[in-house]
Amino acid sequence: MTAALTNRKWTLKSRPQTTVAEQHFNFETETVGELADGEFLVKTQYLSFEPAQRGWLNDVRSYVPPVAIGEVMRSVAAGEVIASKHADYQIGDRVQGGFGWQEYAISDGSGLFPVEKIIESVPISYPLHIYGLTGLTAYFGLLDIGKPKAGDTIVISGAAGATGSTVGQIAKLMGCRVIGIAGGQAKCQWLLDELGYDAVIDYKSESVELRLQELCKNSIDIFFDNVGGEILDQVLVNMANYGRIVLCGGISSGYQVAELPPGPKNYMQLVIRRCHMEGFIVLDHVDRYPEATEQLMQWVDEGKILVKEYILEGIEQCPQALAGLFSGQNFGKQLVKI
Ligand SMILES: NC(=O)c1ccc[n+]([C@@H]2O[C@H](COP(=O)([O-])OP(=O)(O)OC[C@H]3O[C@@H](n4cnc5c(N)ncnc54)[C@H](OP(=O)(O)O)[C@@H]3O)[C@@H](O)[C@H]2O)c1
Repeated sequence: MTAALTNRKWTLKSRPQTTVAEQHFNFETETVGELADGEFLVKTQYLSFEPAQRGWLNDVRSYVPPVAIGEVMRSVAAGEVIASKHADYQIGDRVQGGFGWQEYAISDGSGLFPVEKIIESVPISYPLHIYGLTGLTAYFGLLDIGKPKAGDTIVISGAAGATGSTVGQIAKLMGCRVIGIAGGQAKCQWLLDELGYDAVIDYKSESVELRLQELCKNSIDIFFDNVGGEILDQVLVNMANYGRIVLCGGISSGYQVAELPPGPKNYMQLVIRRCHMEGFIVLDHVDRYPEATEQLMQWVDEGKILVKEYILEGIEQCPQALAGLFSGQNFGKQLVKI
């Protein structure tokens, strides 16, 4: 049934100490194996890229085990069932799961993500971001930890990325004043013109310190932080009393093992300003994914949340797609189309 098919895949060759690059992976070709009873074959169509994937290459304790040397590089993917010996999965079904950086994957159905069979009416890539972990991260991080109220001022770092751009739009829906920090004129203009942000800071060409004083001196109610490092320190000295800091990620560290970043030097501001700072992992909210996904779908359907995808074409592009997250290559959600 599958013998004539050739699978191309990326496996982990060595662990990067600093920046991740193509040299850390092997590009391999193999014949697709025969299906056993209870298995089905997926042809992947889109692969999802997140900064956390760089962290999974480090052999350290984390919320998931590291990718093993020789293992197919881990990522969530969406695709179509093209052969099946599984009673619940038929040819033509659209599914998403942790299929990794490869063109074909054999699955027994276990470990598929909650939006298992992708609804026909939405683009097959959407459950990889806005109706998947990216949208859910924005939703739970902002609403549960940030607790936005109408009139609050929120600052978002990594504001033009997949998560950040969703957070900003939900915050606007909650009636907040939204200030985004992003790299480069084009991203900042997009936040202002298309997403309706109230103000932006281009951290690559402007002083974040000075711009925060101009825009929101001592009055930040919520900081949604995707970046960490110096930007976190600059925001800490401008928090309002009783503000909330949502620690979503720290991409400025590059998620490298060689040199870990220092903690925020201005952390005493949390005491002085009685602020709450809390980290979270979206996977902890799995029981509420249906509720959140339904709300995100409604907002997208109503045109209240715009979705932007940044797509590289071809399985060959996987290492570049991952590395590009750390140089700001992507505009919205980074995907590879197979
Ligand atoms: N807690 C959770 O459960 C959870 C779940 C998913 C994601 N996350 C975290 O959420 C954050 C965003 O993830 P995403 O998937 O939406 O990626 P993303 O924001 O779409 O892509 C990464 C962006 O980060 C920015 N960046 C890269 N290096 C930077 C640096 N040194 N300083 C400042 N900005 C930098 C770049 O934008 P610029 O061009 O603006 O620099 C880049 O486009 C990450 O920190 C990720 O680890 C957390």
